[in-house]
Amino acid sequence: MTVYMAKSAGFCGGVARAVNTALKEAGDKKLVTIGMLVNNRILTDELAEKGVGIVSDVDEIQAGETAVIRSHGVPASVEEELKRRGIPYIDCTCVDVKKIRQRAARAKEQGRALIVLGDRKHPEVKGYAGPDAIVINNEADIDNAEFNPEVKYTLVAQTTFERGRFFNIAVILKNKIADLEIHNTICDATARRQAEAAELSARVDVMIVLGDALSANTRHLYEICRKSCPRTYMVPSIREMQLRNLRANDKIGITAGASTPPSITKEAIRFMNEIAQDTVQSPQTFEEMLNEAFVSLHTGDVVKSTVISVTPTEVTVNLGYKSDGIITKAEMTEDASADITQMVKPGDTLDVYVLHVNDGEGNVLVSKKRLDAQTHYKLIEQAFNDKTPISGKVTEVVKGGLIAVIHGCRVFVPSSQVSNRFVEDLNQFKGREFDFHILEFDRPKRRIVAGRKELAAIEQQQRREELFASLESGQRVEGTVSRIVDFGAFVDLGGVDGLIHISELSWQRVKKVSDILQAGDSVSVTVIDINPEKNKISLSLKDINSNPWNGIAERFPVGNIVEGKVVRMASFGAFVTLEDGVDGLVHISQIARRHIVKPDEELSVGQVISVKVTDVDEQNHKISLSKRDADEEMGIWGEPEEAADGEAAKEEDIAEEAVIEEIAADGDAEAAAEEAATEETVPEEAVAEEADDEAVIDEIINDEDTEDGSEEEV
Ligand code: F3S
Repeated sequence: MTVYMAKSAGFCGGVARAVNTALKEAGDKKLVTIGMLVNNRILTDELAEKGVGIVSDVDEIQAGETAVIRSHGVPASVEEELKRRGIPYIDCTCVDVKKIRQRAARAKEQGRALIVLGDRKHPEVKGYAGPDAIVINNEADIDNAEFNPEVKYTLVAQTTFERGRFFNIAVILKNKIADLEIHNTICDATARRQAEAAELSARVDVMIVLGDALSANTRHLYEICRKSCPRTYMVPSIREMQLRNLRANDKIGITAGASTPPSITKEAIRFMNEIAQDTVQSPQTFEEMLNEAFVSLHTGDVVKSTVISVTPTEVTVNLGYKSDGIITKAEMTEDASADITQMVKPGDTLDVYVLHVNDGEGNVLVSKKRLDAQTHYKLIEQAFNDKTPISGKVTEVVKGGLIAVIHGCRVFVPSSQVSNRFVEDLNQFKGREFDFHILEFDRPKRRIVAGRKELAAIEQQQRREELFASLESGQRVEGTVSRIVDFGAFVDLGGVDGLIHISELSWQRVKKVSDILQAGDSVSVTVIDINPEKNKISLSLKDINSNPWNGIAERFPVGNIVEGKVVRMASFGAFVTLEDGVDGLVHISQIARRHIVKPDEELSVGQVISVKVTDVDEQNHKISLSKRDADEEMGIWGEPEEAADGEAAKEEDIAEEAVIEEIAADGDAEAAAEEAATEETVPEEAVAEEADDEAVIDEIINDEDTEDGSEEEV
């Protein structure tokens, strides 16, 4: 790329004088200009910052203010009014403009009518073209004008009128008007600028005309250049240039209107020269260089940035702009608990969204979160449409559910959608990451609803399969008590529950499960049975090494007489505790020598009695005892009564058989009940699950008496 600058570009002498005067006087006086000092809004803003105001006419000037007459001048009537009112003023009218006024005044003195080539609305033209003057701006205006052959005319031109058109029109008028005095009043600076622009635009690929469209001479320059260079662009500053219009091998010409400040011209030269040099030296593409070389920021822009520093509250980024960008923590992420120092580090590149170009302290406020949200909305919408899982982090527990952050977007998860099982305390999910399904997506309302009930069921099934594949009977496993029920405790083994039946809680008899375990307790349990078909895992809390039945035959040999305590009665006999965890049964037929119908005819709970060990079954944890034999051996009774023998004994044996059969039947019932109780349900509805449990509990309670007997007897 090659860059050519027109020699005459930017402030002309008249404008430079006016601007410098205003800036110099602004320190001492309160200045107001009548109209814009020059037709350039960038410069007008700079003057305003230095206290130079603008009024549209004399009436607006306040006491204490000094008026500045701009380089275009003002009509004579305005100047007279200033004098009449005693308003101090500084006349910055350009000498070339004053010369035209003098020409106009002289023509009037000579009785000549005035023709002005220019724009009737332009302040300069208003200054010397009275109501009788013919003002011609283009060739078409000539046809509409009426020229009196009896009248002599004087022709002048606006100082910035296009030179070529001036001569064309002058020739036409000369042929129409017998007495026409022609004065080329186009200022030298303008003529020179226009000539150079015409010459330059003819030999370049792109012509950039710097200046405000309010400026007549800038517009004329643009028109001149466009005639020979179709790729001519008029921009207030190089920042507004659409860089995509440039190509790496372009020859570029630059010119500027008379009201364009030097700072804008210099900036354009520096910038374009840097670009031109880089096209030679850098391996980057031209587009990359353009993007890097200059960043013009606007609210809503998306900009590439580089992280400069990170604190727990904000991230500072380089935007390639005169000011750095600030990303507050709230604009980094939706997750208030996030540590932003862990999210980015100096040197990282980020795309950011411009919120405010100036936050009042010269910084640019930018957001990563909003850009993320824009990008991520698409991902979430895609997941919604495709019904695919998308991961997110639970950040809050709110009324009715959870808030999760999915790709930077806040998403509501109703409590009914949190899991496939009833969850009492949602706080257990806070801070954890999960996959979710998007259930509802309303982008205009920014409403996103997600759930993981189905996914939780699938995950649970997978865990169950893995767990069943890995478990073996006798294996020791760790778990957490998830629920307590009357007949035992459910233990979460990692997403799948096993059951410790109440009889497996301790070697001793347990009256209430809650005496041993509470929900949430961590336990180490032994797997005693696995049934994948029925999804059942039976567990035991008993320590196999402290089994009181180990060596029972040695401690209680058959034939020995031992002491024990009556602990409970049943219709078929009395249970006697021999030591902790070891109860034996004295069958009703072995309580007394005489025939009794109920054990409490001879015994009471708590009574300590002597009994003879008649049978020991270590494997099945059973000891049979006889009080009758012990009494007999200890001589508590006399000779056995004959009556007790024979028919009575026979009746007792028959009765005992019946009881055993009855107990055996009850044992089946118990097994069925327990099966129902331990069969793990996948509790789709927690309420339904609890109802099932209640039914099982009722069943167990109703069978309790029989169960006691069956456990010991069968
Ligand atoms: Fe004067 Fe020519 Fe500038 S007339 S104000 S020097 S364009």
